[in-house]
Amino acid sequence: MIKRPIQLSHDFLAEVLDKNSTAVDATMGNGNDTAFLANFAKKVYAFDVQKQALQKTKQRLDSLNITNAELILDGHQNLEQYIKEPIRAAIFNLGYLPNADKSIITKADTTLLAITKILKQLEAGGRVAIMIYYGHTGGKQEKDAVLNFVSQLDQKQYTAMLYQPLNQMNKPPFLIMVEKLLN
Ligand SMILES: C[S@@+](CC[C@H](N)C(=O)[O-])C[C@H]1O[C@@H](n2cnc3c(N)ncnc32)[C@H](O)[C@@H]1O
Repeated sequence: MIKRPIQLSHDFLAEVLDKNSTAVDATMGNGNDTAFLANFAKKVYAFDVQKQALQKTKQRLDSLNITNAELILDGHQNLEQYIKEPIRAAIFNLGYLPNADKSIITKADTTLLAITKILKQLEAGGRVAIMIYYGHTGGKQEKDAVLNFVSQLDQKQYTAMLYQPLNQMNKPPFLIMVEKLLN
């Protein structure tokens, strides 16, 4: 069956991760992506601004015996305070956390700041996956800002791709993939 965007995001990142590499889950939420990345990377740094996200993720990681993830209660826009080494792969799942406070959403300005900082710290050959959810209030503005930013990346340094359902109702999420070619 054709891959859903979220499945493709995982495959895209797993291809470049190994047990020497650092990965980032920029939007921890319930920890799905943190747990996934931890299986392939040496270390995962996971960020969220909600305590609830850290609690849920910690429970999930404990139940899976995953010990190579650092859970950080801070915005992804501050990542350089925590990550000093080069990054091989990173994921963003934008929007709000399902079944939680829908007013806590990722926002264009901080999202772009975090993407910029991650791209700077990304190894050559490293990849970033950005899942865009835009059905909620504020979502369209963030979607447009991210698409605009990524579309303007220098093609000599980055390859940027879009993977988007075309015939589904209700604004389904889509995936932006970025690979760094050169430092
Ligand atoms: C769509 S959810 C993430 C879902 C998650 N990947 C999962 O597997 O469950 C988006 C998350 O981003 C978080 N968030 C909002 N602003 C943030 C920021 N500036 N830095 C880090 N996380 C943020 C929200 O609290 C929310 O948990």
